[in-house]
Amino acid sequence: MNSKGITQFLLAHAGKDPVSFHMPGHKGDRLLRKYGYEDFLNSIVGCDITEIVGADNLFQTEGIIADTMAKYRNLYDAKASYLLINGSSAGLIASILTCVPARGKLIMARNCHKAIFNALTLGGIKPVYAYPSMVEEYGITGPVAPEEIARLLEENPDASAVILPSPNYYGICSDIRTIADIVHSAGKYLIVDQAHGAHLKFFEGAEAGDVFGVPESAETQGADLVINSTHKTLCSFTQSAVLNVPAGSRFHDLLHLEDKLQQIESTSPSYLLMASLDINADILADHGADLMGEWRDNLEYFYRKASSINGLKFMRVTDGARQAMDMTKINLDMSACGFDGHQLEAALLEHEIYAELVTGNILMCMTGIGNSRRDYDRLLEALKKLSAGRRSASAADTAAADTAGAALWTKHRTIHDVPIMKELIPLEEAAGRICAASLIPYPPGIPLICPGEEIGAEEIAYIQLLRGQGEKVMGIDAEGRIAVGK
Ligand SMILES: Cc1ncc(COP(=O)(O)O)c(C=O)c1O
Repeated sequence: MNSKGITQFLLAHAGKDPVSFHMPGHKGDRLLRKYGYEDFLNSIVGCDITEIVGADNLFQTEGIIADTMAKYRNLYDAKASYLLINGSSAGLIASILTCVPARGKLIMARNCHKAIFNALTLGGIKPVYAYPSMVEEYGITGPVAPEEIARLLEENPDASAVILPSPNYYGICSDIRTIADIVHSAGKYLIVDQAHGAHLKFFEGAEAGDVFGVPESAETQGADLVINSTHKTLCSFTQSAVLNVPAGSRFHDLLHLEDKLQQIESTSPSYLLMASLDINADILADHGADLMGEWRDNLEYFYRKASSINGLKFMRVTDGARQAMDMTKINLDMSACGFDGHQLEAALLEHEIYAELVTGNILMCMTGIGNSRRDYDRLLEALKKLSAGRRSASAADTAAADTAGAALWTKHRTIHDVPIMKELIPLEEAAGRICAASLIPYPPGIPLICPGEEIGAEEIAYIQLLRGQGEKVMGIDAEGRIAVGK
């Protein structure tokens, strides 16, 4: 075999028996094999086709793709469901460009994913920021308050729509039902970025236990357009996703939405991704109740056992009386044992356990439909060992700095015109300049500074801190320069 690089890396990784608490949600081929998709797995290359006779067309559906869309309409109780092959990113951009006219206004949470900021650029759309609350203990953005949305709608009657993430990356959900009522009273559309919550619909009806809870889906709570990364928590392949127009949605202009989708997505949609969406739909329809029950049992088992591990706690967020936390996201805090999030991540990696995201003292482990009891046991075992061999020092200072930096996402900002003339300058010389290309820590993919915003000394210090910790920050070139207005 001549191939090197990506292929070798993937094969080596797959051969390691890693425990995945990161995306994608299928966590490997176990479920597909269990439910009889061996033939598909063995014919991946043969199944990589284009629009041959009988294969339907993603942008003019009338055959096999239309059938899969119908499966999703049933699963999510939607009046329309679209298969996305450029991830939720494509569905988010298309939804915004459909609901907000060129150069129009969009009320958006400041902690939205970069895909939403990209839609602004594409449509020349003016953002009005809704600032989320903070989870003070962890310096993490929390829910967006309905009152904040009501105030912004009153101040901006010319805004066309509202968009926010729920759950956010850490699993924290906003009160979509109340927000939907407010948005509809103002005659606007509510778009929910449910990239992290494709599974929520399938947990509905299960009683919230002491240790476990999952808020209702945005589809059920009255949103107009809901975008789900089925690849993040369910079992379709990476980059596949589903856009739902729920049964009760006030949005009706499907032709306009379809036109935007075909503008944004590849003209050669991958049949492998669409097949994985079809398989995901069938598995949910035929085995969803069992799989959700198993997932829930595993989480209850995990949280119960973990509660007796010394020095370990979990981030839990309530919003008044409302349960705001999707507990399928396990947010570990082992600072009492002397591990900040980065140290905990490194320690778990020694046990071949891969987590999804670090912020300050939090290490987020993202569970999915494909995690087995064995994965939870391996995590429990590793955490027990770390607790027993606890470090003497308290969690490092980096966590505090990290947490302080994360608060920058709720810093109120003035938005200037996006610079037309740009220049590249070293990051450390950029204080006071206007940003010309987004600076985006990844993950979580939420821009820290967007085009048109002023760069401050504290943002520069935070970016330097992240880079020092080995985190990726997009928007900086190999020589450490960023784009600013000239
Ligand atoms: C909150 C949020 N929204 C949207 C996206 C984009 O989703 P996708 O990767 O499916 O394009 C992400 C990706 O991580 C995300 O975290």
